[in-house]
Amino acid sequence: MFSTPISSHVGRGEFTDVYDPAEDTFLLMDALERDVNEIKKLCCTDINPLAAACSVESARSNGVNLQPIITDLVTGLLPRLQNQVDVLIFNPPYVVTPSEEVGSHGIEASWAGGERGREVMDRLFPQISALLSSQGLFYLVAVQDNNPEEIIQSLKSSSLKGTVLISRQAGREHLSVLKFWKA
Ligand SMILES: C[S@@+](CC[C@H](N)C(=O)[O-])C[C@H]1O[C@@H](n2cnc3c(N)ncnc32)[C@H](O)[C@@H]1O
Repeated sequence: MFSTPISSHVGRGEFTDVYDPAEDTFLLMDALERDVNEIKKLCCTDINPLAAACSVESARSNGVNLQPIITDLVTGLLPRLQNQVDVLIFNPPYVVTPSEEVGSHGIEASWAGGERGREVMDRLFPQISALLSSQGLFYLVAVQDNNPEEIIQSLKSSSLKGTVLISRQAGREHLSVLKFWKA
C-alpha cells in the first residue's frame, strides 16, 4: 500500500480555489494502486491555472517532478502524442448542474458537469482512441448519474473496451472508476 500523498496545501491559502482531495480522489488512487505496475510516468493538464500550480506544489511535497499544462482537456497534445499515451486518467467534473455552470476556469470547474454530469467528459471521449498507445489504458471517475454502463457502451464505437474497475458509496455519491483499453 502507498502512503497517502501530502496535500495539506490544497484548498487553502493561495490554493483556496483548487479542488481538495475527496472520496473520488481517494477511490481513483485506490484503483491506480491496483494497476501501478503499468504506470510509469505522468504529465497532467487542468483548465484552472491555480490547480496546475497546486499540482506543482503537490508534486514537490511528495518528491515527484511534474510539469502541468494549462489547457482545455487535451487541447494541444494532439497530434504530438498520437498513439503515445500509455495511461490517461480523468477525474472530471461529474456533478449534474445547469449547463450554464459548465465552462468556468475556477473552482466551479471541479464539479460542474452540466446535463447528466456528462458535458465535460463527453467532449474528451472522441479523443481517447487517438491518444492511447496500443497497450494504453484510460481511467475515468464517474458517478451513477453519469450512467457508467452507457459510457462503456458508447466508447465501443471508438474501439475501446471498458469495465468498472472499482466502486464505492461515498455519502450520497455512488462513485466508480472505469477502465478502458483498445479493443
Ligand atoms: C473533480 S476535480 C479532480 C481534481 C484532482 N485531479 C483530484 O482527483 O482530486 C476535476 C478537475 O478537473 C479540472 N477540469 C475541469 N474541466 C476541465 C477541462 N475542460 N480541461 C481540463 N481540466 C478541467 C478542474 O479544474 C479540476 O481540477
